[in-house]
Amino acid sequence: MGQDSLTITDNRTGKTFEIPIHYGTYPEYGAAINASELRQIKASEEDFGLLTYDPSFTNTASCRSTITFIDGERGILRYRGYPIDELANESTYLETAYLLLNGELPTSDELGEWIWDITHHTMLHENIKKFIDGFRYDAHPMGVLVGTVGALSTFYPGAKDVLDEEARRKQISRLIAKMPTLAAFAYRHSRGLPYVYPDNDLSYVGNFLSMMFSVTDAKFEPEPTLVKALEVLFILHADHEQNCSTSAMRGVGSSRSDPFSATAAAAAALYGPLHGGANESVLRMLNHIGSRQNVAGFIETVKQGDSGRLMGFGHRVYKNYDPRAAVIKDLAHEVFAVTGVNPLLEIALELERIALEDDYFVSRKLYPNVDFYSGIIYQAMGFPTAMFPVLFAIPRTAGWLAQWGEMLSDSDQRIARPRQVYAGSDQREFARIED
Ligand code: CMC
Repeated sequence: MGQDSLTITDNRTGKTFEIPIHYGTYPEYGAAINASELRQIKASEEDFGLLTYDPSFTNTASCRSTITFIDGERGILRYRGYPIDELANESTYLETAYLLLNGELPTSDELGEWIWDITHHTMLHENIKKFIDGFRYDAHPMGVLVGTVGALSTFYPGAKDVLDEEARRKQISRLIAKMPTLAAFAYRHSRGLPYVYPDNDLSYVGNFLSMMFSVTDAKFEPEPTLVKALEVLFILHADHEQNCSTSAMRGVGSSRSDPFSATAAAAAALYGPLHGGANESVLRMLNHIGSRQNVAGFIETVKQGDSGRLMGFGHRVYKNYDPRAAVIKDLAHEVFAVTGVNPLLEIALELERIALEDDYFVSRKLYPNVDFYSGIIYQAMGFPTAMFPVLFAIPRTAGWLAQWGEMLSDSDQRIARPRQVYAGSDQREFARIED
């Protein structure tokens, strides 16, 4: 593209400024000015210069990224250029994770090495079990995950070497390999069940199911349809560009924290009910509604503001059907053919039908998001509700790490440090307590 620009006139001074417009891959999507260019716009010589005010970063590009593309208006999601539905149909989670982390799909040799590497890093130091034992029996597994993944940093002092690419690769393998083990151990603890160690004969997803659900010494044989379904769910959750948890990962990582600490921060951000905790809230909401007949009444209470939000609906970026929700909705039928239909599906379908015809939701462009149908599938597969955000965190680790690595290699990036518009008191004299 040639250099397009913006002409700004400061009406305080009458001065005019020419500010270049920069583009990404698509000129119509992501044209941006460099915010620091605005600093030259000053009311006087002493003036600090103009800032942009953008609470919650709703209109600020914090980076240039080559990882994930979303067109929220048209409901498009691509990882490294590949459409999400093609990856969901054709790929596996580990292959997709490789793609996100390395920028290209692996050759079969590269994929073989990558799988070997991940498979051989799934074990945890035995002391981690003691941490997990220290949590209360009813500790939320996401709290356990946040705590233990952060604790892992103390086991790998080499992880501090974040500017060394080789050292980074090692920690990336460790994190992707160990997240399912931490997650499964957190679950087993909550049930008072013995921990099940990783089984290297199984796939990434099959091994996770084994560590979760094995009940005897007999070799666990994961149900192939459920393995495939979880692979798809993991692929759909693997990355989503600059969302809240990824921004936490990049923000914390920008101070050169080790990746275990940064991943703990990202997982903590994911835990919230407006982000990865939403799938858990959807299930609670569907249970609360109770039956298909109560749906219309429930929607009215949401519109009146009496029942909070319709969980699993709406998105900061998608103003159309979330393409991940469309894949998951289809997947539900395949899973239910094996597990039996989850009765909550009927309530969810009715909720979607009424909401998509209701002007409140239509005018605000509120559509089902990734969390709307995923919980119904997880529940049918036997996962307790509290595990849902954990099931989001495991696959998102690949995205967090890809974004973290990109941030560290980007010469435009420095420590994340937003500005503020100070709106408090001017200088005043301290009043002593006796006065
Ligand atoms: N139910 C009812 N009204 C809603 C909803 C909802 N789920 N979402 C947004 N609105 C309304 C909101 O009240 C506001 O109305 P008004 O203009 O009259 O004040 C309008 O729509 C715009 O909402 P907003 O809060 O400005 O939108 P946002 O971009 O800040 O929030 C969101 C995005 C995802 C936090 C929000 O839609 C939400 O809270 N959804 C429910 C929670 C959820 O499902 N989260 C999962 C998101 S997808 C997976 C992930 O990222 O983790």
